Amino acid sequence: MKNYKKNILITGGAGFIGSHVVRLFVNKYPDYKIYNLDNLTYAGNLQNLTDIETAPNYTFLKGDIVDAGFLQKIFAEYQFDSVIHLAAESHVDRSISNPLEFVITNVVGTVNLLNAAKNLWLSNKQQSPSENLFYHVSTDEVYGSLDNGGFFTETTSYDPQSPYSASKASSDHFVRAYHNTYKLPIVISNCSNNYGPNQFPEKLIPLFINNIRNNKPLPVYGKGENIRDWLYVVDHARAIDDVYHEGKNGETYNIGGFNEWKNIDLIKVVCKVMDKKLGRKEGESEKLISYVTDRAGHDMRYAIDATKINKELGWKPSLQFEEGITKTIDWYMNNQAWLDNVTSGEYQKYYTKQYTS
Ligand code: NAD
Ligand code: TYD
Repeated sequence: MKNYKKNILITGGAGFIGSHVVRLFVNKYPDYKIYNLDNLTYAGNLQNLTDIETAPNYTFLKGDIVDAGFLQKIFAEYQFDSVIHLAAESHVDRSISNPLEFVITNVVGTVNLLNAAKNLWLSNKQQSPSENLFYHVSTDEVYGSLDNGGFFTETTSYDPQSPYSASKASSDHFVRAYHNTYKLPIVISNCSNNYGPNQFPEKLIPLFINNIRNNKPLPVYGKGENIRDWLYVVDHARAIDDVYHEGKNGETYNIGGFNEWKNIDLIKVVCKVMDKKLGRKEGESEKLISYVTDRAGHDMRYAIDATKINKELGWKPSLQFEEGITKTIDWYMNNQAWLDNVTSGEYQKYYTKQYTS
């Protein structure tokens, strides 16, 4: 059997961001073994990874991070030396209807993973702490809402406002607590809103692309004045690569592209590009905009100051937004079967056929 330089466990690798991280690591590092652990919730889809599923340095493990016994078993069996943890419940609207699910997956699941890593790395004298890393992927939403200007930096106080962001903030605190208490080697990154291929069409951009193509209303919350800071998902994956390799033990890195958009302005850009793609008259798709009741506790503005990762690790986004959004729309229009599958549950059949006996 090949002796790999690293044995990395990536959790949530069948989801939106995770699939881009898995692809990047599998392709870029043939001398690393990449294990993708995912329990394939509605948001996880192995069709996102068909291009690399047979790569010799890739293994998919179906399982739940809430199942501590299962985690202990796979850590003992595969001897992971590092973890890149992305598995989570990730949609704010779902967290408002079902907060407990977010506590269970995002908080309990993260603590289970921390325990599994701690038990293997800190009790096994054969492992070298300098070779181990628990990399926790988090969000800018832990910092709360910027209502009066400014940016989130790595030292901004946590002030989560939704059940989703409260669960992510809590998981971040546990990761830091394990570093402080047990000296577990960790890094955390907090990223702004991602967009790009393979995002489940419940989030703003893919939902609106899907609705425009199906001539369905575009539900804009409140007046559409909330502001988000958007980053192309592949640039986030590149940043994760940099933080994994160059980030300092115990540190936090904010990731963002200095790319703020008011929701309604962003939606109008999407409508305009979609009009062209669908051969519609300019302004046609905008007619689908429908202002609806605002999200409860809707954060007004997120904006990341990404100076630290730029200065210390040399990372910066590779794509301008205009290019990124056009690529994204092209991807969804060229992969309409993917959109139909994930919204109809068809992909469930796909993975059942491919991966369970
Ligand atoms: P996603 O919802 O698309 O994917 C989450 C993945 O986790 C899915 O594949 C799902 O099957 C898996 N998963 C969920 N519960 C699990 C469990 N109990 N056990 C094993 N696997 C489980 O999410 P995403 O948008 O790709 O986000 C990935 C991570 O990045 C999350 O931690 C999220 O908080 C963070 N993040 C997301 C964004 C964003 O804009 N989407 C921005 C910053 C940070
Ligand atoms: P979303 O993609 O859910 O990401 P987040 O809430 O984590 O930032 O939403 C992005 C923005 O778009 C947010 O301000 C809420 C708004 N939004 C709508 O106006 N309508 C929608 O149907 C959705 C899903 C979001």
